[in-house]
Amino acid sequence: MTDFNRSILPDAVRSNGATPNPWWANAVVYQIYPRSFQDTNGDGVGDLKGITSRLDYLADLGVDVVWLSPVYRSPQDDNGYDISDYQDIDPLFGTLEDMDELLAEAHRRGLKIVMDLVVNHTSDEHAWFQASRDKDDPHADWYWWRPARPGHEPGTPGAEPNRWGSYFGGSAWQYDPKRGEYYLHQYSRKQPDLNWENPEVRKAVYRMMNWWMDRGIDGFRMDVITQVSKTVDKNGKLPGEDGSEIEDYPVGEEGYSSPFSWCSDGPRIDEFLAEMRREVFEGREGYMNVGEAPGITPDRNEFITDPKNGELDMLFLFDHVGIDQEGSKWNTVPFEVRNLRTRLAAQQEAVKDAGWASLFFCNHDQPRVVSRWGDDSDRESRELGAKAFGMLLHMHRGTPYIYEGEELGMTNAHFTSLDQYRDLEAINAYRQRVEEARCQSPESMMAALALIGRDNARTPMQWDASRYAGFTAPDAAAEPWIGVNPNHVEINAAEEFDDPDSVYGFYKKLIAMRHNNATVATGEWNLLAADDEQVYAFTRTNGDDTILVVVNLTDKSAGLPGEVAELLGDGVAESQILLSTYDAVHGVKSIARGELARWEGVVIQL
Ligand code: NOJ
Repeated sequence: MTDFNRSILPDAVRSNGATPNPWWANAVVYQIYPRSFQDTNGDGVGDLKGITSRLDYLADLGVDVVWLSPVYRSPQDDNGYDISDYQDIDPLFGTLEDMDELLAEAHRRGLKIVMDLVVNHTSDEHAWFQASRDKDDPHADWYWWRPARPGHEPGTPGAEPNRWGSYFGGSAWQYDPKRGEYYLHQYSRKQPDLNWENPEVRKAVYRMMNWWMDRGIDGFRMDVITQVSKTVDKNGKLPGEDGSEIEDYPVGEEGYSSPFSWCSDGPRIDEFLAEMRREVFEGREGYMNVGEAPGITPDRNEFITDPKNGELDMLFLFDHVGIDQEGSKWNTVPFEVRNLRTRLAAQQEAVKDAGWASLFFCNHDQPRVVSRWGDDSDRESRELGAKAFGMLLHMHRGTPYIYEGEELGMTNAHFTSLDQYRDLEAINAYRQRVEEARCQSPESMMAALALIGRDNARTPMQWDASRYAGFTAPDAAAEPWIGVNPNHVEINAAEEFDDPDSVYGFYKKLIAMRHNNATVATGEWNLLAADDEQVYAFTRTNGDDTILVVVNLTDKSAGLPGEVAELLGDGVAESQILLSTYDAVHGVKSIARGELARWEGVVIQL
């Protein structure tokens, strides 16, 4: 196994304690998808010991916080986002002792650990759900149980309480013969939604969160937390439940209507989040929390993350990663700089005076940005594109998130056959759209999966050029749970680690800038050239200090927008170039010529 310990830790100042307040204002978070990061026991699935063994790598990169996707006990229907015991580690990943060791080793290196919190739903194998199947049990009301539609035989087609479809395919209602009723699941049928209206549910969740905080973790990333409050009428009914108005709800190509507008940003969300802060975080220090927030607008982000409202520290908004889909996730449309800028600008503008932003392009649900919006067809294009999108994201105001392998410029999987996919969303979508509803051709669906499917982000971390990319030993007993990307022979950490010009070297610089440059960390954000079709430009200002960020997000050269040229006047000196996707000399020449090369990005001190 390649050793990534430089023995001398980086000189970049760790954000912890280095910023005025709060500590995470200039922190960088690194997300680990544990099953794909590092396998140490040869079963083909990554584990906690594997993460501990790679902490020196993360320390060298310079990140401050590590967010772990779920490692709790789980039947793994949705790779751990279906939890059957919140207070245990799944044997796939290790033990509670391994978790304690990871925490201690991370803290020794100044790294914080944030765990995933999945409490919109549990697994159907959780003891709470099993108890809830009995109408006389105290847990009877812990989930969204509903009778069959009036006049229909329970369990027969069409008897579901309404026509909501699950985001993972099929009806959002599952009939349970034991209880003789249906339960709601926005996600898979093995992920029943918890009933947050019930105060006992909320108390149990807070108790569990406190248990983890007391054990030493540094906060939570909260899975679809803005979907826990549902819109019900004054009798507690969901839309269409009385059987009357069901035809009024628009039904999509797959034959279902979407629960999304009734389940996102519901009427009691602020109340629940404020209660959670009081019950779990009040009186604690040095933690952070971030809520995954589908359906939350930039304005609502401002409210929820404004410290005076006592809810969450930051949220992940999704409007900017939806720009290449129309109607359905699987109907993809081309990337346009303009659309990305409009969405990101709205997010930045909304938190100018209060609140905070999270910055991300990649995570375990999104494809790799370099393949999605950049160009991964050859080495040079790939490296330039990865740097351009990295620079753009990291120079915004907010807390940047790096998803494992993004710092190496890892690409999409380029799978060509359905049996290479492991994700239930991908497999179900294919079945439903191609085979059942027949609303998409096999070719078009395979193309959409290759572009946007979640497994693109889930192939094993590429540590080196060996048989399984160093993710697991070359002679491991089991194959990796999902195929290793063949391009690991070229794109891997061992190759890039000592090369300051690699994508890895570039990310180290981005992270160090956030730590060391107060303007990058907290300076005001102002958009330039709002209509440009190729170039995304803005300034960051902190008192007298202003930096300019200008990035060509296309594979063709681009004229410098007038507004930018005006600001630069006679051109710039090499010493003013703080960072470039090429190099400083190239940047100076491009500015003088008034034309940026393909994927050229420059950060300029004004
Ligand atoms: C969002 C998570 O990021 C995703 O991976 C998961 O499938 C759903 N929530 C359901 O938990």
